[in-house]
Amino acid sequence: MKIIAGNWKMNGSRAALETMINSLRDVNTPNTVILCVPYTMLRTGANGVQTGAQDVSPHVAGAYTGDISAQMLADAGAKYVIVGHSERRAYHNETNAVVRSKAQAAINAGLVPIICVGETMDEKQAGKAMAVIESGVRESVPSDENGKIIIAYEPRWAIGAGLTPTSSEIAQAHALIARTLKSMGRGGTPILYGASVKAGNAAAIMSIPNVDGVLVGGASLKPDDFIPIITSVK
Ligand code: PGA
Repeated sequence: MKIIAGNWKMNGSRAALETMINSLRDVNTPNTVILCVPYTMLRTGANGVQTGAQDVSPHVAGAYTGDISAQMLADAGAKYVIVGHSERRAYHNETNAVVRSKAQAAINAGLVPIICVGETMDEKQAGKAMAVIESGVRESVPSDENGKIIIAYEPRWAIGAGLTPTSSEIAQAHALIARTLKSMGRGGTPILYGASVKAGNAAAIMSIPNVDGVLVGGASLKPDDFIPIITSVK
């Protein structure tokens, strides 16, 4: 059983989501399927798919114009929320500390945060990938051990670029994340791989040790691309 999560980013429409959910009706899979969609498309799950958001406020309520609280996401039917995605870190200056507070807010509202960590190309070339991944986990995961979480390892240089790390690079990163989580009292936390996942590489990636599923961007937008990823593994 794997976790197959889609990240629609700022794409799609409510009609496109209905089409996707209808297309999933006859897909028989033991896997957990999640679609993280823009706020305006959030709804309760159906046909074996749950929805999630792509960001959340760290605050509970109040004068934060334009922000959305975790409780509001839950009220709209979401069960999950991505926090600390590379694009949020890059375009909205989100630090590990900010990501941690958002993850905690999600947990407090009964949502499962999908906490993203990963290195940039500069960090990789400077030989700092493992250090960045480990500190990303240590500093972005709430210290409170209560509440379920999911980690997504997303090498930032590979996202949307059609690039993927080698299998041994993915294995090394996931083993490090699993060890780090265990030392934090969170052994057994699912660890997803994300960046340039498609039908052609999904099964191979999910056969790597400590890869419990995938976070899929571009290839999650259309049923013809996403369903073969869901059915590529059991
Ligand atoms: P991609 O995006 O699959 O298009 O590379 C992954 C992500 O950003 O989660």
